[in-house]
Amino acid sequence: MIYAAIVAGGTGSRMGADIPKQFLPLGGKPVIIRTIERFLECEEIDVVYIGVHPDWTEQLAEMCRENLTDTSKIRVIEGGSDRNGTVLRIVDSIRGERGISDDDIIVTHDGVRPFVTIREIAESITALDGYDGVTVCAPVKDTILCSEDGRGIDSVPDRDKLFRTLTPQTFRLSVLSDAFDKLPHETVSRLTDTAGLLRELGKPVGLVRGGEFNIKLTTPIDMTLGELILMQNA
Ligand code: CTP
Repeated sequence: MIYAAIVAGGTGSRMGADIPKQFLPLGGKPVIIRTIERFLECEEIDVVYIGVHPDWTEQLAEMCRENLTDTSKIRVIEGGSDRNGTVLRIVDSIRGERGISDDDIIVTHDGVRPFVTIREIAESITALDGYDGVTVCAPVKDTILCSEDGRGIDSVPDRDKLFRTLTPQTFRLSVLSDAFDKLPHETVSRLTDTAGLLRELGKPVGLVRGGEFNIKLTTPIDMTLGELILMQNA
């Protein structure tokens, strides 16, 4: 089985809206519905799990019924207290409801990246041939500097070797589940992406190039960019 695990359990504090950013309208439709639609369009995906804050499970289920013609592949569950906590709750739900087989795959994705393409999802799955985990990424355009105190430059890494981590991040489900079992809770909770779990265990993670449009809606300017992307692709 190939599962999508869409993490949408955050509060969107940097967006500063009165509801979590994944439920804001973008081009007249909630962001999270746009993200879910991309996974439903992808024929490789068998089941789409979405982890949301406990206060929002009913409302998301209602949004799905209102906006989607077929909700049979969708499972809405309660998310965790941080991003990887939400991924873990989805992994635990799959384990409890269906069990985990050696050939199962999980495609984890930020609910606030509605412009993910079918190409990115499909390539992250096929790239698993050589790896236990794969992340979509993009080369950085700016020169990046490191500063311990935020006042002076400590170092400037070679830009040609720097990439931004995007999602999807796709894994052999049994390997990801093992990683959650092996790593201490504090380590899992500190990591801001899920591929970090495999890196912590010394397992290689493969790279797939993502597109320019696969932005994460984080601050208000991103909603404006999102509307422009929709207009460009209309
Ligand atoms: N996320 C989640 N569960 C959490 C926290 C975050 O599923 N407990 C999800 C978010 O909903 C989002 C993704 O992880 O889809 C990326 O996180 P981020 O952009 O940081 O979202 P928020 O935590 O909502 O934003 P902020 O940090 O501004 O509060």
